[in-house]
Amino acid sequence: MSPLVATAIAHPNIALIKYWGNRDHELRIPENGSISFNLDGLYTKTSVRFDPSIEKDTLCINDQIMDGPDLRRVSQFLRYVNEISGKHYFANVISENNFPIAAGIASSAAAFAALSLAATKAAGLNLSEKDLSRIARRGSGSACRSIPEGFVEWRPGRDDEDSFAISIAPPNYWDLVDVIAVVKGKHKSIGSTAGHTFARTSPIQKARVADAPRRLALGREAILQKDFSALAEIVEIDSNLMHAVMMTSNPGLLYWEPATITVMKAVTLWRQSGIPVCYTLDAGPNVHVIVLSSHVTAIKTRILELPGIENILVAPVGGAAKFID
Ligand code: DP6
Repeated sequence: MSPLVATAIAHPNIALIKYWGNRDHELRIPENGSISFNLDGLYTKTSVRFDPSIEKDTLCINDQIMDGPDLRRVSQFLRYVNEISGKHYFANVISENNFPIAAGIASSAAAFAALSLAATKAAGLNLSEKDLSRIARRGSGSACRSIPEGFVEWRPGRDDEDSFAISIAPPNYWDLVDVIAVVKGKHKSIGSTAGHTFARTSPIQKARVADAPRRLALGREAILQKDFSALAEIVEIDSNLMHAVMMTSNPGLLYWEPATITVMKAVTLWRQSGIPVCYTLDAGPNVHVIVLSSHVTAIKTRILELPGIENILVAPVGGAAKFID
């Protein structure tokens, strides 16, 4: 009999080539592939205890008992793990983030990657990285990219079997850093899960998806060649394309705040002046400023001089999700 309890940690990740829109919403089969790197220093730690004597799941995040949609999403995921393991128990899930959820950093990727490892291990399963990535994808699409180490590509596939992420380079391959400019203002009202369902209503989404293999090839090649200027060009185009789809979908999603645009414009000027720096944005107003490690201190100082900045987080390229004792 397995101990029915396990703990794991996983990092969030930042997509350089974005996932937006699903071919299958329930299975989270994306319309296009994506490339990201894990964010070292930021993590979610999750413990799962399956308990044959309890009659419902419980979820505690950062010492707060959760109910409603968060618990329902975790419960749905745990039933899927039950299905695979054949053990039909409810569970106590305790999770903590070392980064502020209110900072608007996508926490579902780290959360479902850590939960996938902890829940499958607690259920007595010993799965391959591929299968862990497939399972994490069912909880949150981007979570499949937080399972492997370093720079990661999610091959979209066509079904549950062949849609998973693999590492394309280890964390120390290239010393990129994500300097996250947390901007002041109203934070996101519509989350990614709802946003993905609107993507197809934008007339631009078809063109964005059709062009994705080209952007993926350019992004992958720029990483493998450590070619910052090639990477910067495609990363900004890809982020702008995703936000163009968001803005032109129905309902339209405009995640930017005035300070978001201030940072984007400043980054463009800094790059024109010779600094290896570019921006990318997720489904929120914060700007992920990607820079070579030798320029982090200078970029941090410059960002803090801009109006409307609340906070800065710094994350180099991180490792794989892993079990802890
Ligand atoms: C804009 O993975 O958060 O961050 O599958 O519904 O959990 P769900 O969506 P999620 O979507 C991420 C969208 C993004 C781009 C990206 O990370 O590729």
